[in-house]
Amino acid sequence: MSVLIDGKALAAQLRQEIREKSENFRRERGKDIGLAVILVGEDPASQVYVRNKIKACEEVGVKSFSYHLPAETTEEQLVSLVDELVAADNVHGILVQLPLPAHLNERRVLAHIPPAKDVDGFCAENVGNLAMNRQTIVACTPFGVMKMLEKYGIDPKGKNAVVLGRSNIVGKPMAMLLLNADATVTVCHSKTKNLKEICAAADILVVAIGRAKFVTADMVKEGAVVIDVGMDRDENGKLCGDVDFENVRDKASFITPVPGGVGPMTITMLLYNTVLAATRS
Ligand code: GUN
Repeated sequence: MSVLIDGKALAAQLRQEIREKSENFRRERGKDIGLAVILVGEDPASQVYVRNKIKACEEVGVKSFSYHLPAETTEEQLVSLVDELVAADNVHGILVQLPLPAHLNERRVLAHIPPAKDVDGFCAENVGNLAMNRQTIVACTPFGVMKMLEKYGIDPKGKNAVVLGRSNIVGKPMAMLLLNADATVTVCHSKTKNLKEICAAADILVVAIGRAKFVTADMVKEGAVVIDVGMDRDENGKLCGDVDFENVRDKASFITPVPGGVGPMTITMLLYNTVLAATRS
């Protein structure tokens, strides 16, 4: 029988610690920690994510500055807002919700956020620091996964870790974090051969490919730690992950559920990064 990794409970515990830190900051510096959140357009999923981020800020006493711009916003207008926020002393973190509408160039827009205010950990300098195992701001989802492993006493050192997915937001930083923690890391993607065999050899399997219930029991080693980053819908429209949870759970030693696993940790680590950015400012 596997242990369920309770991301919701862990997130609540961390948010309490973050609240204390933001109160200390206010006491010591006489001002709030501020996070600016920019949403462009009407993407329904992005609207939900942004709403949840703003709600989470309130919960921990971080002041949020929310900007909802119309879908037809020009790159010049968006960049001008980002530049304004970069210069603002009361804004310690800037988040531009992705994806942006197709006519806007994400790379060019994000390049305006300096590493010290890049609380998503997306910019080249922060990613480069992570690759070199230096102090940095780490992308929220993989950072949250590392916190979960730590809290449940799972040390990646010497373990075979397999990461399914190679996105800049999850797969690549996840692989670097596991490598920095002394795991032997394999990154798999849509062109990987022998995927099943590679997954079945994993002591720690992190799945972030966005395909409902893709990882089946035959792909999982007995006693493996299984981390599911997916947020998908099954054939009945019910929320599920990238892992076939019901069939995999009996084989795993530890497993994250969806919902209630990695999801709550992602926003928590955004708050954590914002407090970190403010403290270092
Ligand atoms: N879109 C999906 N995930 C994220 C995230 O972590 N940060 C931002 N800015 N946009 C996203």
